[in-house]
Amino acid sequence: MKLKDKTILITGASSGIGKAVALRSAQDGATVILASRSENKLNDVKSEIEKKGGRGVVIPTDVTKSDEVKNLFLKASKDNGVIDVVFNNAGLGFISNIWEMKAEEIEKIIDVNVKGMILVAKYAAEIMVRQQYGHMIMTSSLAGLITVPQWAVYVGSKWAITGFADSIRHELRPYTVKVSTLHPGGVRTDFFAEDKANIDISKMGDTVSPEEVAEAVYEAIFTNQKKILIPKMAKSYSFLYKYFPAAVDKMLEKQVQEIEYHENLPEDEPEFSYVKCVKCDS
Ligand SMILES: NC(=O)c1ccc[n+]([C@@H]2O[C@H](COP(=O)([O-])OP(=O)(O)OC[C@H]3O[C@@H](n4cnc5c(N)ncnc54)[C@H](OP(=O)(O)O)[C@@H]3O)[C@@H](O)[C@H]2O)c1
Repeated sequence: MKLKDKTILITGASSGIGKAVALRSAQDGATVILASRSENKLNDVKSEIEKKGGRGVVIPTDVTKSDEVKNLFLKASKDNGVIDVVFNNAGLGFISNIWEMKAEEIEKIIDVNVKGMILVAKYAAEIMVRQQYGHMIMTSSLAGLITVPQWAVYVGSKWAITGFADSIRHELRPYTVKVSTLHPGGVRTDFFAEDKANIDISKMGDTVSPEEVAEAVYEAIFTNQKKILIPKMAKSYSFLYKYFPAAVDKMLEKQVQEIEYHENLPEDEPEFSYVKCVKCDS
């Protein structure tokens, strides 16, 4: 009953891991502040929360817009008093070789996963430092601890968040504000949908449901667990990468080749002038 009569604010609450954490929190009677862009989907989550005995508050927010993030925290603090937990989770990924990535995809990943998460953390910290109390959980990824070919932009965004969270943990400790990072491996959510990462998750090996992740997040709330790694495979990869990075690189290269999203050689690009295949015989 950890969150009974407490308030948790969740970004990315309309779907996947965020929605599962919202429902898990509601089960124990929490007030859940639901933020993401899709108001209709948030309202559906709110209805489910109320059926489970919690209270849902919908505040549609695009985390890439600083005025909307500020408004989220203004409204949340005004309506609810103390904010006990912030689950800073909204994020997305597009996967391909770096030369095949569209500029808009790169911009979206950096805008949501880095800028958006940092803005949410900034306003959460403004409130929690004054409360001298709180717990912020930031969704990084297993990809925020290891390297993965063809996931480079996503990996870069998640390493940024791991480093950011590890740094603010020290800043916030004197104010009894805790900071944790969540590092899931493959989770069966809309993250992999066609208009997003567009990958067949069944080829990713050991995967978990968003509900299993929510249980791990829920356990970590109010404990001093700095890094939440799920499933077990994520723990093994991160441990191995720390001490044997070359071995993990080899394993991941093999796994990525099996998934094989794209052709390896880029198509001719008439917009640029370049010398084709410098090393090839003419
Ligand atoms: N699934 C995995 O295997 C996996 C593994 C490791 C880490 N993660 C991380 O887990 C987090 C949640 O992903 P998920 O797997 O639950 O995927 P998901 O089901 O696609 O959920 C993504 C959530 O982010 C929200 N979002 C996207 N852009 C937003 C924006 N600009 N402003 C506000 N909200 C925005 C979406 O809501 P709207 O569309 O309504 O805005 C949605 O609620 C992400 O940070 C992801 O990187 C996922």
